[in-house]
Amino acid sequence: MSKSLFRKKSLEAIARDAEQGIDDGHGGKGLRRVLSVRDLTFMGIAAVVGAGIFSTIGTAASNGGPGISLLFVLTAVTCGFSALCYAEFASRVPISGSAYTYAYVSFGEIIAWIIGWALILEYAIGNIVVAISWSSYFNHLLEAGGIHLPGWLTIDPDTARVAYETTQQQLSSGVAMTPNMQSVITAYETAPVIAGHRIFVNFPAFIIIVLITWLTYVGIKESKKGANFMVIFKIAVVLFVIVFGFIYAKPSYWSPFLPNGFEGVLKGVSAVFYAYIGFDAISTTAEECKDPKRDLPRGMIYSLVICTVLYILVALALTGMVHYSELNVNDPLAYVFERVGQEWISYIIAVSAVVATTSVLLVFALGQPRIWMSMSRDGLLPKAFARVHPRYQTPHFSTVVTGFLVAIPSLFMQSSLMTDLTSIGTLFAFVLVSGGVLMLPRLDNAGRSGFKLPYVNGRFIVPVLYALFLYLFIDRIQADLTNPAASLQEALFLVYVLLAGVITVLTVVKRYSLIPVLGMLCCAYLLIEIPAVSWEWFFVWMAIGLVIYFSYGYWKSRLAPKL
Ligand code: ALA
Repeated sequence: MSKSLFRKKSLEAIARDAEQGIDDGHGGKGLRRVLSVRDLTFMGIAAVVGAGIFSTIGTAASNGGPGISLLFVLTAVTCGFSALCYAEFASRVPISGSAYTYAYVSFGEIIAWIIGWALILEYAIGNIVVAISWSSYFNHLLEAGGIHLPGWLTIDPDTARVAYETTQQQLSSGVAMTPNMQSVITAYETAPVIAGHRIFVNFPAFIIIVLITWLTYVGIKESKKGANFMVIFKIAVVLFVIVFGFIYAKPSYWSPFLPNGFEGVLKGVSAVFYAYIGFDAISTTAEECKDPKRDLPRGMIYSLVICTVLYILVALALTGMVHYSELNVNDPLAYVFERVGQEWISYIIAVSAVVATTSVLLVFALGQPRIWMSMSRDGLLPKAFARVHPRYQTPHFSTVVTGFLVAIPSLFMQSSLMTDLTSIGTLFAFVLVSGGVLMLPRLDNAGRSGFKLPYVNGRFIVPVLYALFLYLFIDRIQADLTNPAASLQEALFLVYVLLAGVITVLTVVKRYSLIPVLGMLCCAYLLIEIPAVSWEWFFVWMAIGLVIYFSYGYWKSRLAPKL
């Protein structure tokens, strides 16, 4: 059995499939090849610049101060290692499916399934977070225009209850009533009651997902036009923020640069990583690219570089305009302009936040069905998931299922846990994609077309870096080893130390390529910094995935022996 769990797709079979297009069995002709390198770069930026830079950067900056810009550099370098590995795969395995397909050729079926299942967290669950963020900015704009939706129609039940309880506590301890507190109370007390339960739903979040699902259903070409427009608009606004930000910045706010030390900066790891999620999403469109081997790697790397530059400048502008300690707000970009007396700019920013999050929604809504399409073609999911619409030429069944999977929870779910799960799923995929490159047969770069990952022997550099890591973290390692009641968080850290040691030894023995090894080690480190409570949910999610695999995919796989 263990052998069949690790059965692999061959690179030759994949190349054949990509060249000929696979008959989907339902009269579909495959997807249209319409995307150029510019479209792909736009799609990358469309997926990356969203809730992260418009929201989560605030909390990160309030902990780390101006030095948070360093974390944007470090996270970009980490994502860069993974992007190069994605690029190598995209050039050698030019077919839809992203990390899922890459794991299928390098590690084998069970790992591919696990990755495919984890990617649902990035693409579908991630979109729940973005839809919730979209809803709050949209509601903000409606209110500015004098339209007031009932409070219970714009919030999930847990957030409504917690906000109500906190407000009551504040009022009873003598805090004066503010307009915001009043709207929390009104939302709670005017909510309809059914069978003894107060009803709260995030209706705008639901509606935007329905609209996005419709757009992706009717076709990639139409969706591409929409995405290009939105990207130009949001980049223009971000540049505007940077220019005006630097005009209003007071250099004294940039000093001290690390007010809470590097520890304060590291608290922002997941928020900052979340802001980068998305450049990998374009690898799901391989079958819609004019020249995937050449253009996919370029699209990924260009979008990552552009976003990195924008993010570093935005971080510096924000922390230069107000004291960093003020930035713990949900709308930091709008907030800083309000603070310097430029309210009109804050409205432009709110409009652009709505546009930016819409384009993120669009790219992920395009990505998820295409991953399922690949999994279905391989027999791991029912055939309906690979069906291509005869007229629109989109994977319509998968698109509708994705719509349901995102729209329904976005009515009720709280966003913080969803954010952590998204980051865990994404980093997990990054670690395996980086590791997967090491499993690929080594090719002679000289004779190859498309992107080639440069080979640097890791056997000297990696042990030096590992020794440095042990030296820096020796106190934490000793404390955890001697503490019999170490938490799950600390257990994860110790597992990381152990695994990093094993990877270091393997790198020395097998002369592994440096970039994929650094990709694995850096992403795995970010992974273990995510709160343990979210890991528990991740394990539950993975257990459900394995039950489905062993009841269906294992038996129906195209690679399963015919009985
Ligand atoms: N990076 C994407 C965003 O910030 C997920 O919205």
